[in-house]
Amino acid sequence: MKIICLDQDARLAHVVAGLLGCECFHPEQRYFPDGEHYLRFPDGVENQQLENEDVIIFANLHQPDEKILPLIFTAGYLREIGVKRIVLITPYLSYMRQDVQFHSGECVTSRYFAKLLSNHFDGLITIDPHLHRYHSLDEIYSIPSIVIHAPQAIAKWIKHTVDNPIIIGPDDESRQWAEEVAKLANCPVTVLQKTRLGDRDVRIQMEHNEKYSSYQPILVDDIISTGKTVIETARLMAAEGLKAPIVIGVHAVLAQGTENKLDRDAASELDQAVEQSLLARWVTCNTIPHLSNEIDLSSEIATAIHQFLNKEDI
Ligand code: R5P
Repeated sequence: MKIICLDQDARLAHVVAGLLGCECFHPEQRYFPDGEHYLRFPDGVENQQLENEDVIIFANLHQPDEKILPLIFTAGYLREIGVKRIVLITPYLSYMRQDVQFHSGECVTSRYFAKLLSNHFDGLITIDPHLHRYHSLDEIYSIPSIVIHAPQAIAKWIKHTVDNPIIIGPDDESRQWAEEVAKLANCPVTVLQKTRLGDRDVRIQMEHNEKYSSYQPILVDDIISTGKTVIETARLMAAEGLKAPIVIGVHAVLAQGTENKLDRDAASELDQAVEQSLLARWVTCNTIPHLSNEIDLSSEIATAIHQFLNKEDI
């Protein structure tokens, strides 16, 4: 088995390759003057050498639009040289949030993206995709997949780091992560209600929760995008007299700011909330490279690859 990494930040791919004892290759990638992509695979990923081998492509699909074509070209090349199976590992699986038509005429992009990847790969491994209205990737992906769950690693981090925690899920979509983390960390949990009024505008409802004032709240969510969900929740908690929460996100999606000066990028918003003592701190899992990555999922990924390749029916 070989790993091919298409990501610029290849730290996670190298750690996983080390755990599995296999080589990790990087193609040369650049743009032609006309903006088209050039890819060249190094020695060791040429005709015959990989014939009948399994190849794992490591490609983080955060901000996917620029990454998808080189990924499809890589799959095309590997098919041509006759590899056995091509398995895609994308620690963050994008295009999962538009899972329904909220307004007429909208593209349900999750379905088309799933079809595209299913046409080019023999398997998919990812970490906690945003499964909300879909209950399983099988509803839209026609290839076998393994979903790695972050709660075990998150609960371990909490047990080592925080005294007397209570887990708070800011909305119903976070319930699956919040409840699982609380069960594994053996602590109480509460899930709030959120109404989304726009891409960067959310309202959270919280009942009187004075009974939690002695606990260290930990806000757990799958995605931190604009950061508005966790910051709005922290504001309410401050008004309720609760301690400033620690925020844990699985995926540091971290949206960029907009031309509207009030919308700074999400990481600055969160850092400022820490400076203002609205948040105690914020950390993420290493599914998308960022300074906030404190929770490592490399061994979970290595285990999933092993499991995938040894499953007879895949
Ligand atoms: C969906 O609702 C997710 O679970 C997250 O709560 C959401 O993606 C967070 O987005 P933002 O950081 O933009 O509030």
